[in-house]
Amino acid sequence: MASPSATPARFFNLDERDYAAAEQRCRALLARMTLAEKVGQMSQFTSDRDTTGPSIREGYQDDIREGRVGSIFNAFDADFTRQLQTLAVNESRLGIPLLFGYDVVHGFRTIFPIPLAMASSWHPEGVEAAARVAATEAAAAGIHWAFAPMVDVSRDARWGRVMEGAGEDPLLSSRMASAQVRGYQGHDPRALDSVAACVKHYAGYGAAEAGRDYNSVDLSERVMRSVHLPPHQAAVNAGVASVMTSFNTVDGVPASCNALLLRQILRDEWQFRGLVVTDYTAIMELLEHGVAADARDAARLAVNAGVDMDMQDGYFLDHLAELVEADDVSAARIDEATLRVLILKDVLGLFEDPYRYCDEAREATALLAPEHRRKAREMAQQSMVLLENNDLLPLSPAPQRLAVIGELADSRADLLGPWHGNGHAQDAHTLLEALRGRLSSAEIYYHAGVPVDIDDTASRQREIAEAVTTAQQADVAVVVVGEKEPMSGEAASRTDLGLPGQQLALALAILASGTPTVVVTLSGRPLVLSELTAALTGQSAALLHGWWPGSEGAEALVDLLLGDVSPCARLPMSFPRSVGQLPLYYGQLPTGRPVFRENPDPRYSSKYIDSPNTPLYPFGYGLSYTHVDYATPQLDKPTLTGPDDQLTLNIELTNTGERDGVEVVQLYLRDPVASISRPVRELIDFKRIEIAAGARERISFIIRAEQLGFIGSDLRWRCEAGRFELHIGAHVEDTQTLTFDYQP
Ligand code: BGC
Repeated sequence: MASPSATPARFFNLDERDYAAAEQRCRALLARMTLAEKVGQMSQFTSDRDTTGPSIREGYQDDIREGRVGSIFNAFDADFTRQLQTLAVNESRLGIPLLFGYDVVHGFRTIFPIPLAMASSWHPEGVEAAARVAATEAAAAGIHWAFAPMVDVSRDARWGRVMEGAGEDPLLSSRMASAQVRGYQGHDPRALDSVAACVKHYAGYGAAEAGRDYNSVDLSERVMRSVHLPPHQAAVNAGVASVMTSFNTVDGVPASCNALLLRQILRDEWQFRGLVVTDYTAIMELLEHGVAADARDAARLAVNAGVDMDMQDGYFLDHLAELVEADDVSAARIDEATLRVLILKDVLGLFEDPYRYCDEAREATALLAPEHRRKAREMAQQSMVLLENNDLLPLSPAPQRLAVIGELADSRADLLGPWHGNGHAQDAHTLLEALRGRLSSAEIYYHAGVPVDIDDTASRQREIAEAVTTAQQADVAVVVVGEKEPMSGEAASRTDLGLPGQQLALALAILASGTPTVVVTLSGRPLVLSELTAALTGQSAALLHGWWPGSEGAEALVDLLLGDVSPCARLPMSFPRSVGQLPLYYGQLPTGRPVFRENPDPRYSSKYIDSPNTPLYPFGYGLSYTHVDYATPQLDKPTLTGPDDQLTLNIELTNTGERDGVEVVQLYLRDPVASISRPVRELIDFKRIEIAAGARERISFIIRAEQLGFIGSDLRWRCEAGRFELHIGAHVEDTQTLTFDYQP
């Protein structure tokens, strides 16, 4: 949760002296710049190497020569970035180097699982290591600035961009946010494997109405501050170098000209010192939002609200000078913004050596380094969530005759997921290839099943019958179903979250074939799997949700299927029973007419008449190949007496299974009586522990008053006296309860 007092924001890991020295050097440069050159530094354009939005500006290379651009994005590799950098350094009047930005979201060339999958690991250190690998590769390919982490809290799986964030919970998202900032930025901005991070999208983007991308957001400021801002603040506190504004309006005001977000909260309250860049053409979109009369007006609104750099629309470039001359924008505002751009370049060492990131030799060894692939495989193993297992997994001993079914089982590209940077499909194996590689003495039969396309409504009886015949030849069938890459991600909202096309019919037919069946689902979002799950009952079957697992995803899947490692991931987002339940999240308020477990069907209660309120799979849920018993938890004392006091919760866990495992112990809070209605559960801490077969581990959680606090109706953070409940367990619906009093 948001802490009561903002700690002064660091910029990278710089101490005050180094920051002040960088500022002094940059002020000297600023003094030599013309207004046009300053505005150039505040402008960013895409190269033609890659496209991530609607328009390509013609002549960006001339912009570089003329000093009309401070940063280029979508340009990478040592050779190409050197060519562009040479234009800036040798041909622009002041020779100010360019800053190269790119969407390095879950890897650069070695692609890790999508961020939502990585969040399923509940393993911030692993996620930090993944970001470190991504930074090392990106930096070797000329990139200075990663447009990541994406930290939008999202509770509506219709929104395609849920795949980029850490799911529905502010605490888990905050831990993932700071881990990624540490990973990208490293310990020292001057290190050759450090890149600047950019936390995005600020703010509220994950709450797009009806889960439709770019749609309006209407949140109370209290909910915005309590749920959506904490991961951004965590990134700021971790020293993030930059912030990207979001496309959406918030309470009618677009985030890219929102002074409450950009000035009051980000600068005044959090004391953020880095750079604010817009999202792609977000200033131009102020016209469509209906808050700017023309391009000049849009530029004025954005810059005066606190935007420092304009991504792609060129509105700053075209209008800021004129706005300053007309006194509609102050010269001081331009200096402030330009200085932030220069400071970022300075601390990355670009003024000393503009080419320090362009190194072909480093690029050749860093990209896809064996160590990077190993980490991606480990992270993929830790990201896949075992949802059901009726005594089928692991497949040990390995089957002699295996049927592999489904188009996705033989796809490389669909393992990487959107925002896969410079990832190449050919760097990955398909699951079919990985199984063939590993089970060289087994007979493996493959059938592609049915197409994955959403609009594939044609009858597929023949293909399904053939796939069933294929399955019946084998001891075990592995059916891979789910989404193809374009079905989640930006501008990929869906109203139907079932398996696209005829894949459900395919999976049901294989399950009914009599052959023990493992269903593997791949997707960028929670899917509606109710019918599939029901069909597993009573069958020798299992359901493993693989998300989009990245370049090493197929190998990791095989590791899990064969039992080389045990699954240990836990859901970072509730899986709904139906789309009608959305938005769906565990941390709801209780309502005045709650549905109690003891009486699930009272007439006048807050429920549906055709579905339980609960998700199909709850937040924090996931199985493994072992079993961990939780003993009765104990608190060391019954009362917390003030802000400096602490309680200790101890609990003993025993791995009663036969395999080593990893347990994610989750600690939730409930404040049953407060000045405002509080969520029925709120994650306040978690611990991920490795526990050997047969071992017993004692773990402790420290509980402090600050974890009990919340933002009240007056928008102030508070911590109220009273009785509190703690719920500890393996997921949000499987906990033991303790109580204590807070009496300051
Ligand atoms: C996305 C951002 C991304 C930017 C630059 C936009 O469309 O919303 O997340 O960083 O493009 O590629």
